[in-house]
Amino acid sequence: MSTQNIIDIAKSLFAGNKGLLAMDESNPTCNKRFAKSGIPQDEETRRAYREMILTTPGLGESISGVILYDETIRQKMKDGTPFIKIINDAGIIPGIKVDTGAKDMAGHPGEKITEGLDGLRDRLKEYYQMGARFAKWRAVIAIGNDIPSHGCIEANAHVLARYAALCQEAGLVSIVEPEVLMDGEHTMEQCFEITEEVLRSIFNQLYAQRVVLEGIILKPNMVLPGLTCPKQESVDDVADITVECLLHAVPAAVPGIAFLSGGQPCELASARLNAMNVRFKSRLPWPLAFSFARAIQQPALEIWQGKEINVTKAQQALYHRAKCNQAARRGEYNAGMEIN
Ligand code: 13P
Repeated sequence: MSTQNIIDIAKSLFAGNKGLLAMDESNPTCNKRFAKSGIPQDEETRRAYREMILTTPGLGESISGVILYDETIRQKMKDGTPFIKIINDAGIIPGIKVDTGAKDMAGHPGEKITEGLDGLRDRLKEYYQMGARFAKWRAVIAIGNDIPSHGCIEANAHVLARYAALCQEAGLVSIVEPEVLMDGEHTMEQCFEITEEVLRSIFNQLYAQRVVLEGIILKPNMVLPGLTCPKQESVDDVADITVECLLHAVPAAVPGIAFLSGGQPCELASARLNAMNVRFKSRLPWPLAFSFARAIQQPALEIWQGKEINVTKAQQALYHRAKCNQAARRGEYNAGMEIN
């Protein structure tokens, strides 16, 4: 597999001001979200939900790639058509989450290390054969009393780089996702410091593991105050500090940055991405895009409620959020786009 192929896929994921739709919730996470909306938590309902998402008319206008979960990539439509075919037919590139989750890190109370390197080479080969062209691995960094530790940051950066190297060997673009969590009372400045440290550590490790930066996609958090921090900065302040942080730590060779939404309200995630593009787009070395799960899916999930009768309305809500985020990539999103 030539490196050029990987570089071309990475580039095409950013074409047309489109972005990524993360629909790779693990079964426990998906079930948790279903439970909150009173939706049954079983394999058939998860399949039906993903079918609703993937058959949204016009999804490919604003979504370049979807991130699937192991269960989902193997699933089919009710009529027997594989999901992978529906995705390809819509002009969307299929991707796959390949980590096996963030687990408690030994000797580091309150911190997580993401697992999944064992057997990864073989799993990547299988996913490639199934049609996946990019992969995702998420590291989780919490801010709290005396955390994160250097040990946690370095261990997570190291496994992210080893995962990315294996992806390149397998012909897959790697989404490198370090998520500094919003939970907590920390300030936006603290988030800035930690995010910068995490990103610097990751790019050191990517260099050490000989990862071609042109073949990765960075999926970071925006720099935000903690959810319970009394001071909540403006959209423009968040845009400024997030871009400053990225400029400090992300090499220009990276083909694009696609933010996670991290539990931000949908409209705020769109507004913040928009502000970054309005203020900085023409001056940045990389495009700033989105790879949202909740900030695209949440309204649709709430409308769907597990019922066939709600599919069209849920799809309209999903389409709308994807379009809003595409507008935010152009710097053309405004609150007037929101329908009530
Ligand atoms: P959220 O946008 O809901 O944070 O999800 C993004 C994601 O892919 C988490 O791994």
